Amino acid sequence: MLVDGYSELLPVYPLIAQQILDDYQIERGICLDIGTGPGYMGIELAKITNLEIYFVDINKDNLKKAEQNISGLHLDNIVHFTEADVSALPFEDNFAELIISRGSLWFWVDQIKGLRDIFRVLKPGGIAFTGGGLGRYTPPNMHMRLKGKGRRAAKNKNQKANFLSGAGLQELLDKTGLCGCQTISDVEGEDATWIEMRK
Ligand SMILES: C[S@@+](CC[C@H](N)C(=O)[O-])C[C@H]1O[C@@H](n2cnc3c(N)ncnc32)[C@H](O)[C@@H]1O
Repeated sequence: MLVDGYSELLPVYPLIAQQILDDYQIERGICLDIGTGPGYMGIELAKITNLEIYFVDINKDNLKKAEQNISGLHLDNIVHFTEADVSALPFEDNFAELIISRGSLWFWVDQIKGLRDIFRVLKPGGIAFTGGGLGRYTPPNMHMRLKGKGRRAAKNKNQKANFLSGAGLQELLDKTGLCGCQTISDVEGEDATWIEMRK
């Protein structure tokens, strides 16, 4: 079942999932998809890995949509649906090999606390990839058409959001005081929209 507002973005999730697999080669262990919404990021990672995936969201209805979307896909991955705020994740320290969070950071009430909690639950040797964007495998024409779509949608819905990129994103990262992190952009020369954490 497609969820309103996501149909245009659907081609992008498998491309980001493939990028994450190519870049980090994490194919098994525990993965958290934080602020999963309808679950497309975690679902696409599930299709190409053996990861055990926790779909995490603060919103119960969105988690239900994620559950509906994954049911019937006949995936063999172990999956869980966890209602939680990124600032108080109900997982022990050093829990997950891979943490992905796409398009959610902008909506967190306390972005610093959220990023620190992601780092806390990340396993040493693991990777967390948090932020937003279309990934670097999205073809240029599609990238041009979809760039800024999330930002415009949030504005149209009057959602409170703090979209950050480039220097603003780096400033946020600096405020967390976390080591082993860097900002990443989808397209060379464009402002960074992702934070990569290595622990
Ligand atoms: C724009 S949607 C992105 C959904 C999905 N990750 C994607 O890329 O399609 C943002 C999601 O973040 C969730 N969210 C917002 N604040 C959150 C928080 N503090 N902790 C966990 N999830 C949160 C929202 O409920 C929503 O499902």
